[in-house]
Amino acid sequence: MRRIFVIAAAALIFAGCGSPKTEAEKFADKLLEKMTLREKLGQMSQFRPRSGVVTGPEGFSYNLEDMIKAGEVGSILSLREMEYFEIYQRMAVDSSRLGIPILFAHDIIHGCKVIFPINLGSSCTWDVEATRQSARVAAVEASAMGLAWTFSPMCDISADPRWGRVSEGSGEDPYLAAKLSAAMVEGYQGDDLSDSTTILACVKHFAAYGAPEAGREYNTVDMSERMFRDRYLPVYQAALEAGAATVMSSFNDYDGIPASGNRWLLKTVLRDELGFDGFVVSDYDAVHEMVNHGVAADGADAARLALEAYLDMEMTSGDYINHGEQLVRDGIISEKHIDELCRNILVAKYELGLFEDPFRYGGAERFARETYKPESIALARQIARESMVLLKNEDSVLPLKEGRKVAMIGPFLSDARAMNGTWDGFSEAKRIVTIEQGMKARFPEDAMTFTRGCDAYNHIEGGVEAAVRAARAADVAVLTLGLPGNHSGETTSMTSVELPQAQKELLAAVKATGKPVVVLLVTGRPMALESVDGLMDALLVVWHPGTAGGDAVADLLSGDFSPSGHLTMSFPRCDGQIPIRYNHKSTGRPLNKELDYTQSHKAKKNYLSSYLFTPNTPLYPFGYGLSYTEFAFDGLEVLDPEVGTGEDVRVKVRVSNVGNIKGTTVAQLYIRDMVASTTRPVRELKGFERVSLEPGASAEVVFTITADDMAFCREDMTFAQEPGEFGVWVGESCEADLEGHFIVRE
Ligand code: BGC
Repeated sequence: MRRIFVIAAAALIFAGCGSPKTEAEKFADKLLEKMTLREKLGQMSQFRPRSGVVTGPEGFSYNLEDMIKAGEVGSILSLREMEYFEIYQRMAVDSSRLGIPILFAHDIIHGCKVIFPINLGSSCTWDVEATRQSARVAAVEASAMGLAWTFSPMCDISADPRWGRVSEGSGEDPYLAAKLSAAMVEGYQGDDLSDSTTILACVKHFAAYGAPEAGREYNTVDMSERMFRDRYLPVYQAALEAGAATVMSSFNDYDGIPASGNRWLLKTVLRDELGFDGFVVSDYDAVHEMVNHGVAADGADAARLALEAYLDMEMTSGDYINHGEQLVRDGIISEKHIDELCRNILVAKYELGLFEDPFRYGGAERFARETYKPESIALARQIARESMVLLKNEDSVLPLKEGRKVAMIGPFLSDARAMNGTWDGFSEAKRIVTIEQGMKARFPEDAMTFTRGCDAYNHIEGGVEAAVRAARAADVAVLTLGLPGNHSGETTSMTSVELPQAQKELLAAVKATGKPVVVLLVTGRPMALESVDGLMDALLVVWHPGTAGGDAVADLLSGDFSPSGHLTMSFPRCDGQIPIRYNHKSTGRPLNKELDYTQSHKAKKNYLSSYLFTPNTPLYPFGYGLSYTEFAFDGLEVLDPEVGTGEDVRVKVRVSNVGNIKGTTVAQLYIRDMVASTTRPVRELKGFERVSLEPGASAEVVFTITADDMAFCREDMTFAQEPGEFGVWVGESCEADLEGHFIVRE
């Protein structure tokens, strides 16, 4: 994080000296000389065709084709019909005065044709390389469709599973989310934007969108600048450092100013401090929504605020194209300022190679060749398998023993939509392997029965009875429970993340048969499961696992592979614990580990920071995940027990597979700055490594903690490390108890 200030300084020096212009900038400058003000504002506007995905108000009415011909459409989002990429591009190139190509964008969030698990699921792989590869596959497929820009990665961390969009992010921890977000940018953009299989990444939603009050969608975000810089900003920053070419401003207000008109966020932090020199697009209608926020009187005023905040491109409301000219005529915004913003967009188009060949993306032959490649589907299956988290496995009920009869039950057995979850790109239902299909492909036909039992929220006539009959006739019951695919993602905030009542009743009835019960939890968010935990013998979180989800489930249930996913968001016991995060601060009256919560309040007045009837801890903590084998951690050695400021600390540990089968775990390292100028989290993740071991084998893992890893937003708001003592823990979750210490000297 200290790099922020280094970059900032560099950016200021550059600005001062006037850095030499790139070819792209020279090209854009020349083009700007020929453009009318309206054409410039057109480049700064993005529109949706009538058939496109709608995630906001309709806005003003327009004829897209007329506007394209008039050179007033810089970008189009959410085009669904493939042939129109070429039709609209031809229109722009041949019929508009200057023939500036259109930039086509779409939300390719966890895959385009081949769908990977929802991002929260993928993050549970802790597999940076696989994440990079999945973004690469998405870019290859998306560019083969005609797209040049994805609105991804979502870098918003969140500790609030009531907020449905946790499904699109990488969990609650900034360190892990930063690594995964950066990998996604690398996967989308490669190292050459002019390669026609790479697309622009978009870091979103800038900023702090993941902390809306009460988990309610689009709600106010009010947090200290210190918290913002410490926890939230590093993820966006990492994605920017990976080279992300664009940024999306968020819907929320931050510290009283909506992000799309927030000059401090978009100019001071993003451009001046972080040195971002790409372009910023607003979220859907977010410029105009500043009227609803109550900071703009009307569309013109909203456009003014956004322009003054250096927001380059407006999405869908039309406020730039409709009011920009008047703002310039009235002397409120200078044309020079418009040029500056428009230039950023033209530069991106130039760098993509669009001016050289506007038709470099898409094409039927290329599309047929590049989509649904067997190796892409194999990668989706691997990531789905690695994303699934085994939270419980009593009496080793999993994997399913050969020859046992299995009653497959529940509302999501053959639900293709539930496999994909939110933002399913250009997926086709016929390509999706449901859980039922995956199981049928792997197990003998007479080994299984399939019974729905209930709907996601409602009973169905005779459903429970049929499920009970099926369970009685089997050796083990496997229930698919959780939430429908469209109940995570945007506008899916919930006040309760418990299992719906109808499913709880189904589960209880099946459990009462006395048969072992395995739950496959289909979900896009952590759920609060304490009230039903006792009804499950095994619990495997399968998320919304994507195109190959059903096969991946079968891979694990059969024991062909051992689960290796580890949680990246805490699973609370109950709704009242939310928001909940492992990396919380210590209060002045912290909970005493030895003192059980009930004892503490029964025995005497409770002077500890705890609830009356519920422990502080989640049901399943961050980092947690079982496999079919067992791992032991020992031999922790801090190789650099005393270092100077700025020096690395290495920590060594031995990981052993002490079970009987091959498996993979995620070795995790946490630190605590014991005494600092501001309160620090009780633990912070600062290293991780996936470790695969044969039974009986051991491996040595050496983590390196850098000075940057120890840096934080200090009392004086500077970002740096402070000397002193640090605690360090290594293990398989944030509750790891293998402990060490080191000292950083002045
Ligand atoms: C979402 C963005 C998305 C945009 C365009 C908005 O509603 O918040 O994440 O990229 O729509 O589809």
